[in-house]
Amino acid sequence: MTEKVAITFQGKTFEFPLVEGTFGEKGIDISTLRSTTGLVTFDPGYMSTGSCTSDITFLDGEKGILLYRGIPIEQLADKSNFVETAYLLIHGELPTKDELSYFNHHVVHHSMLHEAIKNLYDGFPNNPHPMAVASAVVGSLATFYQNEISVRDEREIEITIHRLLAKLPTIAAYSYKKSIGQPLPYPDNALGYCGNFLKMMFSTPCEPYEVDPVAAKALDVLLILHADHEQNCSTSTVRLVGSSMSNLFASVSAGIYALWGPLHGGANQAVIEMLEAIHQDGGDIDKYVAKAKDANDPFRLMGFGHRVYKNFDPRSKIIKKLAHQVFEKVKVHDPLFEIALKLEDIATRDEYFLEKKLYPNVDFYSGLIYKALGFPVPMFPVLFAMGRLPGWIAQWKELQADKDFKIGRPRQIYTGKSTRDYVPLTDRG
Ligand code: ACO
Repeated sequence: MTEKVAITFQGKTFEFPLVEGTFGEKGIDISTLRSTTGLVTFDPGYMSTGSCTSDITFLDGEKGILLYRGIPIEQLADKSNFVETAYLLIHGELPTKDELSYFNHHVVHHSMLHEAIKNLYDGFPNNPHPMAVASAVVGSLATFYQNEISVRDEREIEITIHRLLAKLPTIAAYSYKKSIGQPLPYPDNALGYCGNFLKMMFSTPCEPYEVDPVAAKALDVLLILHADHEQNCSTSTVRLVGSSMSNLFASVSAGIYALWGPLHGGANQAVIEMLEAIHQDGGDIDKYVAKAKDANDPFRLMGFGHRVYKNFDPRSKIIKKLAHQVFEKVKVHDPLFEIALKLEDIATRDEYFLEKKLYPNVDFYSGLIYKALGFPVPMFPVLFAMGRLPGWIAQWKELQADKDFKIGRPRQIYTGKSTRDYVPLTDRG
């Protein structure tokens, strides 16, 4: 017999079915709760709410497991590359040789931006935050491809996916080039996804540029590690926007804005700013650990803690190893890396952090690697967005194909004023 959960309310008992996941995780299907009981659930921050079933990513926060389409993140970081991982997330299987070559060709082929898009960059004030630029320009792509933004036509969706994956690195690199007053370079499709991006970021027309394979590989691994993370804030945003049948450009543009905040994708920028502050303050790590533990101080250790991982974040282990490799290769001594290592060491032995299960998350070391590769701090969340793009696309596609597809529309418990009369301005005190 199928297991059910009973809720008793006003003397009546109502039964609700359970939904079970691949690894035995269970949820109560309360989709008929309101129609049968008149009740809604109340769950600020969605701490106990599953918004969908999904075949894309599995994570177990207690055991520190992360799987994309069933494959452990450690194996993908070690053996795959970002374009192949993007294919896996979006299509559900690892590609055959032919499928990969087709996908790779199209993702590379669409890398140029319409010349008119450059006018948008001229319209922004000096030094705009690249996340704002990335979101605005991604959203504007819908104006350039207005006839191909159907959410139901598979071919149009496929072209849009190729365009998004191909153009986001160009959009990102242009926002940086514009901010430093350098000419906007054209993509070099022969260099591969990360090589091309590095060249667009760091080359100038007056000097030869050679892609450093260590930098390209490190960037590729970082993109893989960020490629999906099930129903996080930005992904849920992409799904919610997509649930009104908004096109992929609009949904991804909204996802970029959701990712920008310091509690989400902006955390890697916040980590560097925190490490800088500790460094400027004489490197007194204990002082900052004490601040983070003080309930009356709003300061938090950036890059620590995670809504889901309550043991360790498997991505942070891979990133820490990568950070050591990159620092060895670039041979730059960064005092911030030393501070980060010490901070991790102290915090991971401290009772407060152990008790609250706060461990370094994906952002703790990623910013240090980006910095070592030469990326300016405001670009960090944009790099996160580049990585997360295949996840957003896969989740948006899965939503559109969901047999239970519905516009997302949560309920609320209204706690404002009761009904009252309008008071004319002349009668107000
Ligand atoms: N430093 C110090 N204390 C912390 C930290 C931290 N980084 N994170 C959580 N805590 C404390 C809280 O003060 C709270 O204490 P309390 O129980 O005494 O009130 C307790 O731990 C639980 O914290 P919540 O904020 O309730 O946990 P939640 O799951 O809602 O938040 C979050 C998770 C937002 C990631 C939080 O840990 C945080 O703010 N971390 C710093 C920002 C960060 O690194 N964000 C990146 C997350 S990863 C990503 O988005 C890719």
